[in-house]
Amino acid sequence: MLRLVVLISGGGSNLRALLEASRDAEFPARVVAIGADRDADGLAHAEEFGIPSFVVPFGAFPDRAAWGEELLAQLDQWDADLVILSGFMRLLPPATVRALGPTVLNTHPAYLPEFPGAHAVRDALRAGAEQTGASVILVDDGVDTGPVLAQERVPIHPGDSEGAVHDRIKLVERRLLVDVVLAIANGELDLAAVARAPRPETPAPTPGEDPA
Ligand code: GRF
Repeated sequence: MLRLVVLISGGGSNLRALLEASRDAEFPARVVAIGADRDADGLAHAEEFGIPSFVVPFGAFPDRAAWGEELLAQLDQWDADLVILSGFMRLLPPATVRALGPTVLNTHPAYLPEFPGAHAVRDALRAGAEQTGASVILVDDGVDTGPVLAQERVPIHPGDSEGAVHDRIKLVERRLLVDVVLAIANGELDLAAVARAPRPETPAPTPGEDPA
């Protein structure tokens, strides 16, 4: 049984998809703890499902490195096989990513490497794109630059609002995330091998806070 820790900043709808998938006794993973960088609305899911939660507020630390150390200390308590950044609106410091090894997944509301950064949906609309997408990646120390584990195209319709596009993307993100966790649990996807594999050149990342 894979042990998952999910980190959130917002409503946690992707987190909820994992919690619901875990209700099935056959699903080979369980969320053992939920963490946040703020008093996120999605922590209500932790309460509802009876899962322990913790908050490491970014603003309570002198710098990102100190915050990352405390986050790591919290994560260490849960012996997680996977740490899932699901709408977690903070970049992990490189030392934290290194310490966790190839176990950190991130969902992103675009077809990476298109539209990395914090405003992926808005950026796709402003670019006049007719389609965007959803991606699940293995986190490295860049902004949305890690190897893609799964992704799927999502259409943008004329007159769509940012919210409408994001809601359409999230439906796909949830399914991809559950499928990736399943593939890792079943041994069909080997994150250590993915991390070791040679990488094609990727475009320079867009500066931004959000790795999600
Ligand atoms: C997702 O689209 C995620 O990729 C992005 O923020 C959204 C989080 O949604 N960074 P939720 O908190 O899971 O509802």
